[in-house]
Amino acid sequence: MNNNMSLKFDARPENESFARSVVAAFCVSANPTVEIINDIKTAVSEAVTNCIVHGYENTMNGEILIEANMLSNVLKVKISDYGKGIINIEEALTDFYTTREEEERSGLGFTIMKSFMDSLEVESTPGSGTTVVLTKRLA
Ligand SMILES: Nc1ncnc2c1ncn2[C@@H]1O[C@H](COP(=O)(O)OP(=O)(O)O)[C@@H](O)[C@H]1O
Ligand SMILES: [Mg+2]
Repeated sequence: MNNNMSLKFDARPENESFARSVVAAFCVSANPTVEIINDIKTAVSEAVTNCIVHGYENTMNGEILIEANMLSNVLKVKISDYGKGIINIEEALTDFYTTREEEERSGLGFTIMKSFMDSLEVESTPGSGTTVVLTKRLA
């Protein structure tokens, strides 16, 4: 099976919960375990939160695009913003690294995405945005 969907929504915190639920619902056809669904929800939630908080710096001014593909029970989900971008991706991926310490962010969002999914890739251009690509085998 090769199945695709895309979802575009405003970068507002109240949209984070339905966005992760949409990705979870998209996965149901592959019959994943509850544990796998929860891992995906957690990872998507971290990525969307990063777009809102870092990409658009909590301005609620901007859009987030989620594109998902399911091919032979492997989920690939791309989460993009058109915000600020990341200057040093390697540094951003370091455990506990955060640029918003004053808000008591853990700096573990990317670490969580990496450990809950099979792979994580980050593409970013400062000033034009960031795309996170997550993959996971569902069955
Ligand atoms: N979508 C994004 N746009 C801009 N910067 C980002 C984005 N996602 C992550 N970052 C940068 O990477 C850092 C690490 O992200 P993360 O591991 O989720 O930790 P946290 O969100 O707790 O700071 C962030 O502090 C931020 O500087
Ligand atoms: Mg984060």
